[in-house]
Amino acid sequence: MSVVHIFLIGFMGVGKTKLGKKLSRQLNYSFIDIDEEIISLTKKSINTIFQEEGEDYFRKKESEILREITTHKENMVISVGGGLPCYNDNMELMNKQGITCYLFRPSKELYQRLLNNRSERPLLKDLSVEELEKYIADTLEKRVPYYEKAKITIGRDEQTVEGIIDSLKRKGIILQ
Ligand code: S3P
Repeated sequence: MSVVHIFLIGFMGVGKTKLGKKLSRQLNYSFIDIDEEIISLTKKSINTIFQEEGEDYFRKKESEILREITTHKENMVISVGGGLPCYNDNMELMNKQGITCYLFRPSKELYQRLLNNRSERPLLKDLSVEELEKYIADTLEKRVPYYEKAKITIGRDEQTVEGIIDSLKRKGIILQ
């Protein structure tokens, strides 16, 4: 039987990592968070990487790690950083190698979720509250065309382990 790679994509703060961990436990798959892989590989925080090496370096690293991970011959849930689908044809790669699930939430809700959760996010941490709201709205608009290439979109009310599993079953991706 062929292996299943489920990629969780979506904007910062949508909840990819938390949901990905739970989903992987429920399905008995391995779990990988690409940001965590970068941190353990470089022994630096994402903030430090952006500060010392720059965003281009980070984008290169996350794309490299994505390519390496997709060679693993095991069932996996993979949570990817919010920007990853928008660089280096990563969306095409993920669609070729597995099932992409876009976790959708409207900009206003992302703003509420990120307001007090941005100190570890280099793209957000130095913005004022007013700048943050506009940055999220503008960046989401730019990223949506990439996110919408996902095979499955998970609406805000289905973003539970059960909701994702139901979607995967409806698509015939998992049978259990
Ligand atoms: C980023 C999202 C972050 C992390 C980095 C850049 C982005 O991951 O990869 O700070 O460009 O949206 P999360 O989506 O897990 O916050």
